[in-house]
Amino acid sequence: MKIDFKGKKALVTGATRGIGKAIADELAGLGADLILTGTNATQIEKLNAGGEPRKTFYCVDFSDDRSTKSFIRELEKQKRIDICINNAGINALNFIQDATEEEWDQMVDVNLKGPFLVTRAVSTMMKKHKYGRIVNIASIFGVVSKPKRSIYTTTKFGLRGFTMAASNELAPHGILVNSVSPGFVLTDLTKKNLKKHEMEELTARVPVGRFADPGEIAKVVLFLASDVNTYLTGKNITVDGGFIDA
Ligand SMILES: NC(=O)c1ccc[n+]([C@@H]2O[C@H](COP(=O)([O-])OP(=O)(O)OC[C@H]3O[C@@H](n4cnc5c(N)ncnc54)[C@H](OP(=O)(O)O)[C@@H]3O)[C@@H](O)[C@H]2O)c1
Repeated sequence: MKIDFKGKKALVTGATRGIGKAIADELAGLGADLILTGTNATQIEKLNAGGEPRKTFYCVDFSDDRSTKSFIRELEKQKRIDICINNAGINALNFIQDATEEEWDQMVDVNLKGPFLVTRAVSTMMKKHKYGRIVNIASIFGVVSKPKRSIYTTTKFGLRGFTMAASNELAPHGILVNSVSPGFVLTDLTKKNLKKHEMEELTARVPVGRFADPGEIAKVVLFLASDVNTYLTGKNITVDGGFIDA
């Protein structure tokens, strides 16, 4: 089995750090041309000046309507996009009583509305070429939940629902749509949300005995995003070291 992305154009949202960066690096290593996003204009400028010829970074904040719309207009100017990884996501932990409408709006806009708007734009192009692979990065908290994750869980269950609906509509056009639900991955998001003792307690509950490296999530995404995947669509693949079944 050989996975190759030469001649393919891929979009990865939230690719400046963590899981998105790992996916972008793997795709680049296997020959894809990349459109990547992050929120920090200065960093984006530096990355574009960095001279990686097959990577173009765009600045977009999916919680900001103007920023999102401007990015979607840029996307619509592209001639083709073969692969789309909706990865950008945020998670503000709060009990329902303390959660604010602002947190609701932000998480829904970034985790759910962003993937919808991006999918709408890229699938229009993909339909013309009768080819596409879309992978949405959901979460184990889109399969199970725990306290303080009500909004995050709502968005990630929603993203899985959107994945299923989109796969039904788009399969006749050669476009396969799946989601990947990571467990605990060593990224900035995890380090921000979990205290050291919480990480230790959770590690003890993961059958594989450790948190994931972002590259371990990226490898599963690569298969779904590749030509090697020809028949898997509308599915959610949980990559959690066995956590939710333990
Ligand atoms: N880490 C985990 O354990 C874990 C587990 C399950 C699911 N996930 C999901 O995996 C995805 C990536 O998570 P991660 O841990 O890699 O996150 P991360 O390290 O916090 O990186 C998040 C990425 O998204 C971008 N981003 C942040 N806020 C954004 C916004 N408002 N609009 C657009 N882009 C934004 C960031 O850009 P800047 O660098 O410019 O801020 C960065 O590139 C998310 O969807 C998350 O829900 C993560």
